[in-house]
Amino acid sequence: MKRIIFDTDPGIDDAMALLFLGSSSSVFISSLTTIMGNASTEQCTRNALFLRKIYGLKMPVHKGSSTSINGQTPSKYPDLVHGKNGLADIVLTEERSLPDPGTAHSVMSSTAKKHPNDLTVLAVGQLTNVALAILKDKSFSGNLKEIVFMGGTINEPGNVTPWAEANIWGDPEAAEIIFKSGIPLTMVGLDVTMKTRITKTFLRTITSKLGKLGRFLQNINTFYADYYAKSMNLDSFPIHDSLAAMFVTNPDFFVTKKGILSVKKNGEERGRTLFEENQQGPHSVCLDVNADKVLTEYEKLVTNHY
Ligand code: RIB
Ligand code: CA
Repeated sequence: MKRIIFDTDPGIDDAMALLFLGSSSSVFISSLTTIMGNASTEQCTRNALFLRKIYGLKMPVHKGSSTSINGQTPSKYPDLVHGKNGLADIVLTEERSLPDPGTAHSVMSSTAKKHPNDLTVLAVGQLTNVALAILKDKSFSGNLKEIVFMGGTINEPGNVTPWAEANIWGDPEAAEIIFKSGIPLTMVGLDVTMKTRITKTFLRTITSKLGKLGRFLQNINTFYADYYAKSMNLDSFPIHDSLAAMFVTNPDFFVTKKGILSVKKNGEERGRTLFEENQQGPHSVCLDVNADKVLTEYEKLVTNHY
């Protein structure tokens, strides 16, 4: 069983990824850590606490940074994609629990120290918390086993600008710290997530088996599906973050290449990820995926578990 910290900005596709991880017997989620992106860090933390409750999960939730590495806070969030509250503006039943003590980056450090070479950070939001762990604890890079992150793109167009994917665009300075850290990492970006889309019909085959939880998931994903239909004329929608989760459990579904990743920090291409292929390179990038296998596995695990 893989020990992971799930660093997330929930977020509709984040909610679907957590549903999958919570259904899998091959991962142990040691903590949820939160970050801004689909909404503010405060709102994403409330959403993580809410999801933990409705999924029946028990791990601690630690709030992450409210600013990116260069001290900035976003002036707006992607309300049209995820709703103002990050979860399709569905009124979340009163969530009274508070996040657990300890910041996201300090918990990443202490967990990696306690379990050297046995912790994967699965990051599906901007990379600020992981970068802070690297900057503030010199032993962190050596203690961590690997980072798997949803973000970036090599061959697909960006989804925030023509070049940049949202999680990297949100904090390119953090991405650069991670790329230069020497920590083994795998990028699961738009090159595979845009190839793995689900239809409302497929969604219903899952949600119809999940009772009240299924109705919540159907509602949030209908909002998200409608955005992709209106903005991109698509009759299916990408389950971005579930791909990174699936890479942790089923890496054999993916085609990866080794090389060196870098990120543009200046000008109109800010947030663009660049990849130089090199067999000896420290980074792996997912360039293709067996989407059918991913979707079959997703449906099987979630419907068996809930
Ligand atoms: O570009 C897609 C990514 O941005 C996903 O992680 C989504 O949840 C948002 O964070
Ligand atoms: Ca996300």
